[in-house]
Amino acid sequence: MVRRHEHVSVEDELQVVTPAKLVVGDVSKSFASSAGVVQALDRVSLQVGEGEFLCLVGASGCGKSTLLNIIAGLEKPDSGQVLANGKPISGPGADRMVMFQESALFPWLDVMGNVLFGLKRKPGLTAKDRNDVAKYTLSLLG
Ligand SMILES: Nc1ncnc2c1ncn2[C@@H]1O[C@H](COP(=O)(O)OP(=O)(O)OP(=O)(O)O)[C@@H](O)[C@H]1O
Ligand SMILES: [Mg+2]
Repeated sequence: MVRRHEHVSVEDELQVVTPAKLVVGDVSKSFASSAGVVQALDRVSLQVGEGEFLCLVGASGCGKSTLLNIIAGLEKPDSGQVLANGKPISGPGADRMVMFQESALFPWLDVMGNVLFGLKRKPGLTAKDRNDVAKYTLSLLG
């Protein structure tokens, strides 16, 4: 029997050791509006490794926010898939934080109320727990 030795690059080998934290595979997304159909994303693929810092740069309307919304789990792709830590994204999760382009605060709530909003939806926390977590988080910002 002849054993075939396939060439393995350093990049391939490191891929095995540190699997990508985020894998975007062949993601497409279009929007229908009165102006017609807009193909916001056309088979986009990329990978982000642990500790890697990635910037998406492009003209207004090229699909940056659409891709981020899909990674955040706020939008569903028409086709393709996104894996976070090896698992398909099925919705928003605390493993993927989003800082929105526009402020996304509830104007009728004060600072404490805005910070407590998400915590109130988290099961298993008492009112005191929520207040402690919110005060600690705000103290980090000063
Ligand atoms: N919900 C929607 N309904 C219809 N069209 C949409 C929707 N969301 C995005 N689009 C269109 O998809 C395209 C990509 O939009 P997107 O917001 O992803 O661009 P962007 O790169 O984030 O732009 P910007 O730099 O202005 O933030 C644009 O043509 C936009 O008008
Ligand atoms: Mg945008």
